[in-house]
Amino acid sequence: MKPFVLRLSLIIFVPLLLSLLFLTFMPKETAMATYEAFGVRIEKNPSQSKLNELGVSTWPKWEGGPTKIPWSFKEEETMYLLEGKVKVSVEGSKGSFEIGGGDLVVFPKGMNITWEVTEPVKKHYSLKKE
Ligand SMILES: *[C@@H]1O[C@H](CO)[C@@H](O)[C@H](O)[C@H]1NC(C)=O
Repeated sequence: MKPFVLRLSLIIFVPLLLSLLFLTFMPKETAMATYEAFGVRIEKNPSQSKLNELGVSTWPKWEGGPTKIPWSFKEEETMYLLEGKVKVSVEGSKGSFEIGGGDLVVFPKGMNITWEVTEPVKKHYSLKKE
């Protein structure tokens, strides 16, 4: 009887424990997701080691309050938003998306957008010269 109970509890509790572990770590994976919108690459909450590797803190800084301006990316631009919120509307389509504090974003060269700051923004940015 004893070994049977032991085996039964292993069969039940080990998978249960594994799925609990999975559920615990899953949300973090989702929070670090990278996705693309209209050719723009957005990474949510990149790790500090990735930011260090890119040298983000040494990049020039830009700050801006609420505004709405057309913008044309003459070079590929990578930016890391420290805080704030921006609605990005893509020219030539009805599409828009939002970026904000904690996002690492890469805009492709030649892209035209409307940059609408809805919450004051602080960001670091880096232009890729060819
Ligand atoms: C973006 O705008 C510039 C001029 O402001 C234009 O020359 C270029 O063709 C536009 N690019 C796209 C992809 O619409």
